[in-house]
Amino acid sequence: MKLLAVLALLVFAGAAAGQGGEGGGGALPFAVGAAPAGCDVGRGEWVRDGAARPSYHEWECPYIQPQLTCQAHGRPDKGYQGWRWQPRACSLPSFNATLMLEMLRGKRMLFVGDSLHRGQYVSLLCLLHRAIPDAGKSFETVGALSVFRAKDYDATIEFYWAPMLAESNSDDAAVERRADDRLIRGAPMDKHSRFWKGADVLVFNSYLGWVAGGDKIQILRGADDDMSKDIVEMKAEEAYRLVLFQVVRWLEHNVDPKKSRVFFVTASPTHEDSTAWGDDAAEGGNCYNQTSPISDASSYRGSTSREMQRVTAEVLATSRVPVGVLNITQLSEYRRDAHTQIYRKQSAEPTAEQRADPRSYADCTHWCLPGVPDTWNELLYWKLFFPSNDQVL
Ligand SMILES: *[C@@H]1O[C@H](CO)[C@@H](O)[C@H](O)[C@H]1NC(C)=O
Ligand SMILES: *[C@@H]1O[C@H](CO)[C@@H](O)[C@H](O)[C@H]1NC(C)=O
Ligand SMILES: *[C@@H]1O[C@H](CO)[C@@H](O)[C@H](O)[C@H]1NC(C)=O
Repeated sequence: MKLLAVLALLVFAGAAAGQGGEGGGGALPFAVGAAPAGCDVGRGEWVRDGAARPSYHEWECPYIQPQLTCQAHGRPDKGYQGWRWQPRACSLPSFNATLMLEMLRGKRMLFVGDSLHRGQYVSLLCLLHRAIPDAGKSFETVGALSVFRAKDYDATIEFYWAPMLAESNSDDAAVERRADDRLIRGAPMDKHSRFWKGADVLVFNSYLGWVAGGDKIQILRGADDDMSKDIVEMKAEEAYRLVLFQVVRWLEHNVDPKKSRVFFVTASPTHEDSTAWGDDAAEGGNCYNQTSPISDASSYRGSTSREMQRVTAEVLATSRVPVGVLNITQLSEYRRDAHTQIYRKQSAEPTAEQRADPRSYADCTHWCLPGVPDTWNELLYWKLFFPSNDQVL
């Protein structure tokens, strides 16, 4: 009888605390509710929902970079804006900007990563900014750091550009370099991570830079300022493993899991090759002209690296500071229709020649806004505020 009571108490305490993979004791900071057991928000389907989508309009969100404003760059269709992600095993509260701002009162939320992550960051600003009057917000970028401030909430939502997480020759976004000329510093990562200290919610990503441009990467050993000294070559996956371990060690030394939450966003898939969804190779097609998601996922052969996914899962699982994994890979794989294609500005407006050659010019990596990254933020919202007891790590 006594034992039963103790057991019941333990079970109850575990449930109330939102314990499990991510929990590990005590209520998770930022949790306001819990997702039902067995709720893997990354598994589900896209449903058309003209009433609930888009969550905002492209023209009303001033933060979207021209790389992602597809309508302004002549995209003829809008269907890609009309889909809502429905997890299979559960329904969770839809994104509530006021709730999120209230929860972030006095806090600092920081995204760290690459251009795809910047897209997610901007999407979050678009989802929130309507709930704040003009005088109550500001936005500025200095160097690698962008800061959005919600003044009445004393909250900041920030983005730090570090596409390889470690110091690398991609750190200056203004300098174009060849994808196959990649150099990262092996250790330490202090030059970037000193900007991450004190964040209450940290959201990382890093994938594209490791897989674009071949399977080898150069590592600069030591702390020398001269980037040309003491260089070794490494398999990209192994270099990624090394850097991710450094991030985990940094988290363990700098993040208090009783006050802060950490997330990692998995690989964002690309749609460069339409044979992946059954087109004839002779067509040489890609994401260009696609206006509907892939409906038959069973026959889809995506190009996302399984090896990289495995490294991500393995390394994050070793972290003593729990890291929630936002697994956006599969849900985004369905969305061959949602990339920016030729409807974007890169360093310059596309030329007529480039527009006429979508097979080589279309961007099948980045996503239009509003669009798929809004859903990544909905997943973040769910995991942050409604963590499940069996949070998938
Ligand atoms: C959003 O959250 C706020 C603050 O918690 C609450 O007052 C409001 O009713 C919520 N809105 C909806 C539509 O649920
Ligand atoms: C795109 O679609 C248009 C209209 O259906 C068609 O004329 C054109 O050939 C297509 N282009 C490509 C590259 O598939
Ligand atoms: C994300 O989910 C997919 C599909 O379930 C899985 O194959 C992949 O390993 C997961 N990625 C990580 C990093 O857990």
